[in-house]
Amino acid sequence: MRWLIVGGGAREHAIAATLVRAEAEVVVASPNANPGLERLARASARLEPTEADRIVAFARRERAGAAVLGPEASLAAGVADALRSSEVPTVGPDRAAARLESSKVFCRELLARHGVPGQPRFAAPTTAEEVDRAVATFPGPWVVKPSGLTGGKGVRVLGADFADPREGTIYAKALLVQGDRVLLEEKLDGEEFSQMAFVTDSGLYPMPAVQDFKRALEGDRGPNTGGMGSYSQRDHLLPFLTASHRDRATDCLEKAVAALRSEGLAYRGVLYGGFMLTADGPRLLELNARFGDPEGINVLVQYEEGSFSDLLLGVATGRVDPNLVRFRRRSTVVKYLVPPGYGGRGPSGGTLAIDERAIEDAGVHVFFGSVEPAGPGAVRLGTSRGLALAGEASAIHEASARVEVALRHVRGDYYVRHDIGTPTDLARRWEHMRHLLAPSAKPSPLPLSVAPPEAPPSSAGPAELLLG
Ligand code: AMP
Ligand code: GLY
Repeated sequence: MRWLIVGGGAREHAIAATLVRAEAEVVVASPNANPGLERLARASARLEPTEADRIVAFARRERAGAAVLGPEASLAAGVADALRSSEVPTVGPDRAAARLESSKVFCRELLARHGVPGQPRFAAPTTAEEVDRAVATFPGPWVVKPSGLTGGKGVRVLGADFADPREGTIYAKALLVQGDRVLLEEKLDGEEFSQMAFVTDSGLYPMPAVQDFKRALEGDRGPNTGGMGSYSQRDHLLPFLTASHRDRATDCLEKAVAALRSEGLAYRGVLYGGFMLTADGPRLLELNARFGDPEGINVLVQYEEGSFSDLLLGVATGRVDPNLVRFRRRSTVVKYLVPPGYGGRGPSGGTLAIDERAIEDAGVHVFFGSVEPAGPGAVRLGTSRGLALAGEASAIHEASARVEVALRHVRGDYYVRHDIGTPTDLARRWEHMRHLLAPSAKPSPLPLSVAPPEAPPSSAGPAELLLG
């Protein structure tokens, strides 16, 4: 089977690597000369992920039997529609169904119309006066969201991104003036998790849960980003997430797909729910129409050897064999190396020297993101996330420590969140959730499966130095 992969990031590199492990061939339409994709691909073309006609022509020329779309921009631009019209079965919904992600207002209004549980209180004002009126109806803090795609960077939260409510209303009104729609939502408190599932005509097939680290700086400070890294736990839950929480999140995804269907929209692709686990259970923050980046990497490295191509083909053609939805029981940690300026902190980075062999010997997978080749063993960082290191181990903190060892084999000017998956970080999240559920409860130790009993090491230091 020959797959067309659209997109040039670490998520797409991981998709390609998982297909090649299943003895499939890949051809790649990518805007950058991603060295990881280049060496796996039988052919590649420098194309923006939104260039539907040229992507279809490339798929035809290379006789791709099916396609998988990585970035949301591709879905929003109707690339899946164009490929399907040319009889290329595709993993990724048509443009109309991808509005679940590309229009947050469409998504909230659809789910509200169909009574899908787990939504926060929201308003979708269309004028400055409506912004003022809507804000007055929120009993507590609220958040402002542009309705359209912003690469994870458009949401502003009262108390975190702005202190004075007037700043929030000015932002919301400015978005309206720019021609976008706006969502105002109650601010939820809790721990975030990402629940992805394969979705096709025959049903919905959940993947392991993942926690993404959206804020640019350690300790969840700084601006929102596309995601600085992520972890997953070997039982496919998370330290603070029970099977019952996971099932409620999955139920929400199922009901979202049913809502689309009842409005005449089919869905063949990956559906991603971004949830907040609150004291009242999981609440939906957003839906995405694709693999998360980096969350997709956590689940792809856990996929059992062999049949990923058959699984994806089932998604693209409408019938999945549930026996193919197989993930190993490993904990995984992904850390993204980004240019020091990523997330709005100044200019972007230079060249990284990478000893891939040594990294792999440390039990860590390397996935290339927004980089260009810069000679043997070297890449040039762009302005976005450059290199994903994915460690796997029995426990989360061990996978995190493996990535730290691997980092010794990357030289150059970059920033990374060392705190992802450390015992200190896991303990902080666990306590946050315990406190929300039972505010008067005394701190309790983490379960031993999550963190070692000894005192957790400090994760502060190197990142702050790198940030200068
Ligand atoms: P979204 O693009 O909707 O996932 O939002 C990006 C990030 O903003 C989320 O991952 C959260 O960290 C934060 N966020 C979004 N909506 C809310 C909300 N209703 N309450 C609190 N934080 C939110
Ligand atoms: N990591 C968040 C996303 O993929 O949207």
